[in-house]
Amino acid sequence: WPYLLTALACGYLLGSLPFGLLVTRLAGLGDIRKIGSGNIGATNVLRTGRKDLAALTLIFDLGKGAAAVLIGLHWGPDISLTAGFGAVLGHLFPVWLMFRGGKGVATTLGTLLAVAWPVGLATCATWLVVAGVFRYSSLASLLSLAVSPLFAWWLIGDVQLVEFCGLLAVLIWLRHLSNIKRLLKGEESRISFSRKTS
Ligand code: G3P
Repeated sequence: WPYLLTALACGYLLGSLPFGLLVTRLAGLGDIRKIGSGNIGATNVLRTGRKDLAALTLIFDLGKGAAAVLIGLHWGPDISLTAGFGAVLGHLFPVWLMFRGGKGVATTLGTLLAVAWPVGLATCATWLVVAGVFRYSSLASLLSLAVSPLFAWWLIGDVQLVEFCGLLAVLIWLRHLSNIKRLLKGEESRISFSRKTS
């Protein structure tokens, strides 16, 4: 238990680094939480019109999830999964932002890529296909994470990994309730490469 709690705390601290907020602030764009959906993730950074910053946010948010898992791996698979879970929790509820963080998609994808890359790749590919067809980042996130437990079962066949994916999917869905409402009302904004301030 002490090891698991330490892994959770270290993963949490790593995941709590709000890269989307930091890169947009450093670039002089102000507070990303006042732009577009108000989210600190790469999709919303893209709404500033800065593809480079969106790419950086995506890489750093993916990277922190993957890093937590890979560092944790030195102490074994359970520590590794716990650290990855901590990283996602850190991104969702960062102490630095009064526990109001992002939606956790990139960090979850990074975590999955590091935990079991075939599952991570299949989930990323699903995200890309859904986003390519429907142009909604949120829908792509919801559907790809929803099927990730199935990928874990088909590709790895490990019950613990299925549960891990399921747990992350539930968290992601809960953080997307506002997106789900907008999708149902037909008011969700599509992936956009131009600046959006509403
Ligand atoms: O990764 C977050 C995405 O699923 C939704 O982002 O900014 O459209 O709420 P956003």
